Amino acid sequence: MRRPPVLRVDPHDPSPELIHRAAQVITGGGLVAVPTETVYGLGANALDPAGVRRIFAAKGRPGDNPLIVHLSDADDLTRVAREVTALASELAQRWWPGPLTIVLDAAETIPVETTAGLSTVAVRVPAHPVARALISAAGVPIAAPSANRSGRPSPTTAQHVIEDLGDAVDLVLDGGPCEVGVESTVVDARGLVPIVLRDGAVTREDLASPAAEASVEDRLSSPGTRHRHYTPACRVVLASPGQASQRAEELAQAGASVGLIATVPAPSGVIQIAVHAGAEDLARRLYDALRLAESSGVEVVVVESVSDVGIGRAVMDRLRRAAD
Ligand code: TXA
Ligand code: MG
Repeated sequence: MRRPPVLRVDPHDPSPELIHRAAQVITGGGLVAVPTETVYGLGANALDPAGVRRIFAAKGRPGDNPLIVHLSDADDLTRVAREVTALASELAQRWWPGPLTIVLDAAETIPVETTAGLSTVAVRVPAHPVARALISAAGVPIAAPSANRSGRPSPTTAQHVIEDLGDAVDLVLDGGPCEVGVESTVVDARGLVPIVLRDGAVTREDLASPAAEASVEDRLSSPGTRHRHYTPACRVVLASPGQASQRAEELAQAGASVGLIATVPAPSGVIQIAVHAGAEDLARRLYDALRLAESSGVEVVVVESVSDVGIGRAVMDRLRRAAD
């Protein structure tokens, strides 16, 4: 796979000149990989059907899976949503810029390519200075899914993007590793209470109000949750805390080459992929660890579960899908 052009940028204070170059790629109909606080996104002008179609082609993404539209300023929400509910204003006020994605009825300006034919649009204002500067310099909303090949673990470094997409992306902005490491929380804000469609960096505890568990119907309205996801080339086996090490050892004794991602070091005969300090640390390193397991050539990676609370819920959601 050919390497795309890469520009290294200061994640806290990106050079306006480099951002300008990237913005020109976006307004010219091209694709730019950009760091956000969650994961790297693969961005195109959200109002340009041809640019958006290139995102789907580059990722091998199913055509029925809509994209998140990224804004640099919450005030622009009225440009992409038909009706901004009181709940949406409240959530935007509280969480933007940040890792919360809000689903509302779409404005007519949003092409069907971006919404995958839905009447709704998912919107967020990222907190990452590079992402915000890019959107602002481009002067258009930017549609950006995670910058991985469809079905693969999301990218949390520029290197992950390059491995997956090569020169199918026109330019990569390398702002170093992402701080959060799992994707934004997606909530439907058309009603009176937020309905969580995808668990993510903003936790249900954070959302406080009785953020109802998404029903089966709600899940169907978030197409991405139906697709296979986060899968590295090796098998992923989940084990409860305290048993992961033993489970890895048993698999190794049975003749498999085994890796371990856990809070404890790997026993002998098992390859240590990552030792982490708990859910938040694991969130940050999860996708890198899954990719590392794959590149280290193990057949199976055993991952010690974390509790389904706080950011642990998003981590376990991703791990369960990876282990399916
Ligand atoms: O943190 C993130 O959200 C990253 C960064 C780049 O912003 N983006 C991201 O995008 O994770 P993606 O495309 O990998 O995941 C977007 C999710 C998918 O599950 C998709 O189905 C859902 O959001 N989604 C998008 N538009 C929607 C809509 N109108 N209604 C319901 N779900 C929607
Ligand atoms: Mg994704």
